[in-house]
Amino acid sequence: MLEEKIVGIRTRALEELAQCADAAQLKTWENSYLSRKSEFNQILKDLKNLSPEERKKIGSLANETRAMLERAYGERSAALLSSPTAWEEERIDVTLPGKKFPLGHLHPITQVQARIEDIFVSMGFAVADGPEVESEWYNFDALNFPKNHPARDMQDTFWVDGKFGKDKYVLRTHTSPVQIRYMETHKPPFRIIVPGRFFRNEATDASHETNAHQFECLMVGTNVSVAHFKYIAEQFFSAFFGRKIAVRLRPSFFPFTEPSFEFDINCILCRGEGCSACKGSGWLEIGGAGMVHQKVFQAAGYPRGKYQGFAWGFGLSRLAMMKYQINDVRLFMSGDLRFIRQF
Ligand code: DAH
Repeated sequence: MLEEKIVGIRTRALEELAQCADAAQLKTWENSYLSRKSEFNQILKDLKNLSPEERKKIGSLANETRAMLERAYGERSAALLSSPTAWEEERIDVTLPGKKFPLGHLHPITQVQARIEDIFVSMGFAVADGPEVESEWYNFDALNFPKNHPARDMQDTFWVDGKFGKDKYVLRTHTSPVQIRYMETHKPPFRIIVPGRFFRNEATDASHETNAHQFECLMVGTNVSVAHFKYIAEQFFSAFFGRKIAVRLRPSFFPFTEPSFEFDINCILCRGEGCSACKGSGWLEIGGAGMVHQKVFQAAGYPRGKYQGFAWGFGLSRLAMMKYQINDVRLFMSGDLRFIRQF
């Protein structure tokens, strides 16, 4: 009886072992046939109930069978381990070279913008934002561009088809409309910067692009003067270029400032000695600035004469060109990765 049972288990065990195809199946097999809880072990435990003769006979059969199953198990695991099938897929070859996943990085314009924001935030400025599709009111009227005045032609505008309500819409031609939007919802004193895109409908060349980046600065209070502008501009450019930079003002005209100026900084290539970049003058033209026109305050809902403020704006793209010595503004928005990857 017991003899037959042992032989039966052995036959079944060997058949099942031959079917095992991976580590998990081998483990299950080991549990059923070789572990302490196995059917086979149960038989060994019952040996004590047998007569001495029988115990001897069955005992040695059981021991032989167990040794045989252990050997078979060892051979089967070795065979599975060296076979190039399921095991191969699970194996990790730690000596293989790693796979490199391509990592992107920030666009040079974004990097320069982040640096500008850091410097201004450290001087107590907030960063503001506004829409790129802007109404004619915010882009022109509120900034004191008279209707049918040549000042409007200073901006070559992309008009958006159709009217929405009373307003016509444009792709904003500068970041200055955000001055009005911010003042409508905030009370002075405050100081903000507005980095962003602007659009001009004009022929492109190395220094003109239909879509570029600009940067607006606005500080309003009851005692803000041109001296604040000059000081903050000098602090900013010195921090940005990492050395002391002077700013100079020249009289100019913008509808939204009175008085208005253009401002220059020391040439960053020749440090003011005179070179081809600054056409020998030692100065580089940077942007426009001025004291906010009282009509602009009124358009934003402030009472006339109560506040003063300075505003300035310049090309963020141009600043990035100066920093990285890039000679064509069109490269930034070209989408050419050979260019982008250099930063
Ligand atoms: N918005 C002007 C432009 O796009 C730049 C500018 C000039 C901005 C003078 C200002 C400013 O805030 O005061 O050309």
